Amino acid sequence: MTAEGMRETILALPEHIQAALALPIRNFEPRTFTGIDKIAFLGMGGSGIAGNIIRDLLPSIPVFLNKGYAAPGFLDRKTLAICISYSGNTKETLEATHTAMKKNCRLLGLASGGKMLELLVEEGRPHIALPPGHLPRTSLPFQLFSLLNFFDQINLFPLDREGILAFARALLAREPEARALAEKLKGKLVFIYGSTPSVGLRFKTQLNENAKVHAKAEVFPELNHNEVVAWQEQPPQGLAVVFLREPDERQEVRDSISFLQETIQGRADLLEIQASGQTRVEQVLSLIFLGDLASYHLALARRVDPEKTEYINTLKKIIRE
Ligand code: F6R
Repeated sequence: MTAEGMRETILALPEHIQAALALPIRNFEPRTFTGIDKIAFLGMGGSGIAGNIIRDLLPSIPVFLNKGYAAPGFLDRKTLAICISYSGNTKETLEATHTAMKKNCRLLGLASGGKMLELLVEEGRPHIALPPGHLPRTSLPFQLFSLLNFFDQINLFPLDREGILAFARALLAREPEARALAEKLKGKLVFIYGSTPSVGLRFKTQLNENAKVHAKAEVFPELNHNEVVAWQEQPPQGLAVVFLREPDERQEVRDSISFLQETIQGRADLLEIQASGQTRVEQVLSLIFLGDLASYHLALARRVDPEKTEYINTLKKIIRE
């Protein structure tokens, strides 16, 4: 992939969603996935974020996010363990997956290769082979939409396939907004405030990995109970605060955003991005798309390679050895 390749990949969103919806789920028998009372996502970084997003989309069932070596003690036969590692070689995810297998969880694995894919094939477990050749973080549409297709098939989440494809095609026209946002973020420390935790986290991690900048994400209404107090003091210089706005925000959240924006005015750059779309999936997708593209354009503006994450590779090597 080249720097321009990342932009093309982000803009290939509709094609990637379509391909994701057609990815075969191997060794899959929908009726063996009945009687599930909780879901545990096992995955790190760009392979963990799909779990965060699904937790925000699926309020009807407890979803636990496991981002570490040890799997939680409550895993059992009624747990659906979703084990994701794009490379298939992430130590934390492999260790937690072995535990989930020992605890007889119902299991679905996602990997493009590596030890994870080998294990899933050898054990005859239900799995989705992700297409190779991407970065873990740019493979998100494949992860997310192959999972939503799976959840639809086990009757946990109805998905309007045609609707989401049409929406994704129309979303591409919003690229200029992402470019303009990136211009305004140049040279800034970025605070992200929004109502859907996964979307803020995705934007933060994409700014970290693609643009190589510091950022943090906080969530309404929790931030009303701590973060806001710090705004009583003068903030550090060079701060940009991006509000991720959604059409269905509660009135209390709207009021607290207006009050916070008045407080921040003149002390930091105030920015907003608006979710578009009618459904939760569309709204979440729109913010992710804009954040992903903004992080890409910020990388270009800062003259850094959006694809390279040498530090992570070095760390993985140190840990392996
Ligand atoms: C790299 C990236 C990382 C990886 C993480 C786990 O694009 O986003 O956050 O996702 O290091 O690796 P995988 O995804 O291979 O399990």
